[in-house]
Amino acid sequence: MTKHFLNLTDAGGDAIAAMIADAIDRKAARAGLPKGRADADAPLAGHTLAMIFEKNSTRTRVSFDMAVRQLGGTSLILDGATSQLGRGETVADTARVLSRMCDAIMIRTDDHAKIEEMAQYATVPVINGLTDLSHPCQIVADLLTVVEHGLALPGSQWAWLGDGNNVLHSIIEAAGLMKFDVRIGVPQGYDPDPAFAAAAQAAGSRIILTRDPVEAVAGADVVVTDTWISMGQAHAEEKLAAMMPYQVTPALMAQAKPGANFLHCLPAHRGEEVVTEVIDGPQSLIWDEAENRIHAQKSVLLWALGKLSA
Ligand code: CP
Ligand code: NVA
Repeated sequence: MTKHFLNLTDAGGDAIAAMIADAIDRKAARAGLPKGRADADAPLAGHTLAMIFEKNSTRTRVSFDMAVRQLGGTSLILDGATSQLGRGETVADTARVLSRMCDAIMIRTDDHAKIEEMAQYATVPVINGLTDLSHPCQIVADLLTVVEHGLALPGSQWAWLGDGNNVLHSIIEAAGLMKFDVRIGVPQGYDPDPAFAAAAQAAGSRIILTRDPVEAVAGADVVVTDTWISMGQAHAEEKLAAMMPYQVTPALMAQAKPGANFLHCLPAHRGEEVVTEVIDGPQSLIWDEAENRIHAQKSVLLWALGKLSA
């Protein structure tokens, strides 16, 4: 059966643990090599990934391209505006055609229903490179990053501050699968989709929503935030004002565990969701997190193509 990666649950906790372990091994094995050189085993030699972007991207675009190169394959990019998708060709027909020409499809789009439709009609793996609902590839990289820095995921305490957005949805999903807890500091009116919390809670995780940013970060091992205005959302002064108490500052970081890690998927807006002292400070893992998009995506691709045992 074709293995799609639309959300973390498509893989499950065991496969995600295998992805993290594989990423750590592959990253160590190629240390010091030029970044475009293929890994010694080149497991995706002869394979091509089609990447579709209906929204902007720097990290997802470059890291998927580099991931495929390092696995010995190639990638190509279609952008929404210049492909026939942009002129109204259906998602279903695009999925059927790309499945005949390429070995896997990565898509970044707006409505999550589009990627579900793509997966329904594709006969090759479809990977979510971000939708309005979720960003699972980012969270595999985030998990990899904190594990690399010594955190044991089960029982760990995560804090989210800010908007209840796509990145948060995937963190909540990861909490249920990898058995950690999340305290979410979010202003009224910007809560995450409760379905994600319900699923994680059913799996035994504690997912706590609070309006108090100090309660959210108290004792946390990991503090995470993201932009207050996501792609496709209108700039709204009212939203920025509501978010201000949730800005990640040194004072808030001081409420977390000593040495707690700070994560941000980037791009960042210094002075909005996080101040410079935190994002550029010693607790911030953002550059490892960004690099790890490559290593995480390699594992996602290998899993989807049936080349990772889990
Ligand atoms: N974090 C992330 O997905 O970055 P890009 O939007 O640059 O791809
Ligand atoms: N929440 C952000 C993430 C960007 C990587 C957005 O959707 O724009």
